[in-house]
Amino acid sequence: IDELLAAGVEGKRVFVRADLNVPLADGAITDDGRIRAVLPTVEALAGAGAKVVVASHLGRPKGAPDPAFSLLPAAERLGELLGAPVAFAEDTTGPAAQAAVDGLQPGQVAVIENLRFNPGETSKDDTERGEFADRLAALADVYVGDGFGAVHRGHASVLDLPARLPHYAGYLIGAEVEVLQKLTEDVKRPYAVVLGGAKVSDKLGVIDHLLEKADRILIGGGMAYTFLKAQGHEVGKSLLQEDQVPACRDYLDRAKERGVEFVLPVDVLVAPDFPDLKTKAPAHPTTVPADAIPADEEGLDIGPKTQELYAAKLADAATVFWNGPMGVFEHPDYAGGTKAVARALLDSPAFTVVGGGDSAAAVRLLGFDENAFGHISTGGGASLEYLEGKTLPGLAALKD
Ligand code: 3PG
Repeated sequence: IDELLAAGVEGKRVFVRADLNVPLADGAITDDGRIRAVLPTVEALAGAGAKVVVASHLGRPKGAPDPAFSLLPAAERLGELLGAPVAFAEDTTGPAAQAAVDGLQPGQVAVIENLRFNPGETSKDDTERGEFADRLAALADVYVGDGFGAVHRGHASVLDLPARLPHYAGYLIGAEVEVLQKLTEDVKRPYAVVLGGAKVSDKLGVIDHLLEKADRILIGGGMAYTFLKAQGHEVGKSLLQEDQVPACRDYLDRAKERGVEFVLPVDVLVAPDFPDLKTKAPAHPTTVPADAIPADEEGLDIGPKTQELYAAKLADAATVFWNGPMGVFEHPDYAGGTKAVARALLDSPAFTVVGGGDSAAAVRLLGFDENAFGHISTGGGASLEYLEGKTLPGLAALKD
């Protein structure tokens, strides 16, 4: 983007593909981290006199307009953060978008409606995606890719559009890649990784890769129960991906062979039912050893002994990557494990990278100062796929 700014953008229509896929509750944004993350790029372009067209997906609508997934709240928040009015187009490439772009003066910003309201955005068919990319290209003179959270998607606005316009990487993508490179090339050891979140199937690729790279892998969240099952323990009503038990068993064996410390919870908080996240009514969980989860109870967070164990395993690490909460952190009774990991990272002198929408949102929602962490990535799937060593379509498209 510095190259683009040096060449001059005064009066040029610049399409910024951002990731404004923020969590919403009853139409209100609960964490605006991803909007704040794209501000440097938008401000620099607007400050240099560009006509800035910001585009993003939000959620997973089914290729047609759906008010529940409108980008309007994100556009309004962007305007508040910029301290300047932001025009909003109620379509993506139709008359409203065209009028919003035509109405821009140098230095002004418009947001167009959710890219995924169009089937062409996510289509597997190259022609359909290409046609949508052609329509997007008609709105701009230049493309800036800055939606790091979406670079692992081969979608029209990520993959096909940059091929149709002069293209540049924005500041956010530049910063994210610089940090993730530190984890893949010449990482400082001990390198500890904390993985949580609901599904082990989302993490298979990254675990595979980390068994070659990391010194310690600590597991929490819903995915821990499939590993506990693979160790031969019963997990009651806890989340379990039965079909992944053999893969987990294989990872545990490989970790042993390679001398990678694979650490599982030693105790967990359990309750008969999933907590009510709306009322947040007290859930009265009990703590049980991880190998004695009662048949009619569900594990919902790591327990206090595990918190201590994980903090000790992180204390002397030189590098830590953390992806995924340790429990149902949205409920105060089950936020303890996720808080303990966040605190351990803050106490450790290690270079820490928090990867992923959920863990990044957890850190902020639980009241931690995000600036105290080495780096909080805006990309969940994107940072995991980067660490796996995969070619990310949105990065490859910008390199061409
Ligand atoms: C994310 O939240 O990880 C990104 O915005 C990508 O969203 P997606 O998983 O719906 O493609």
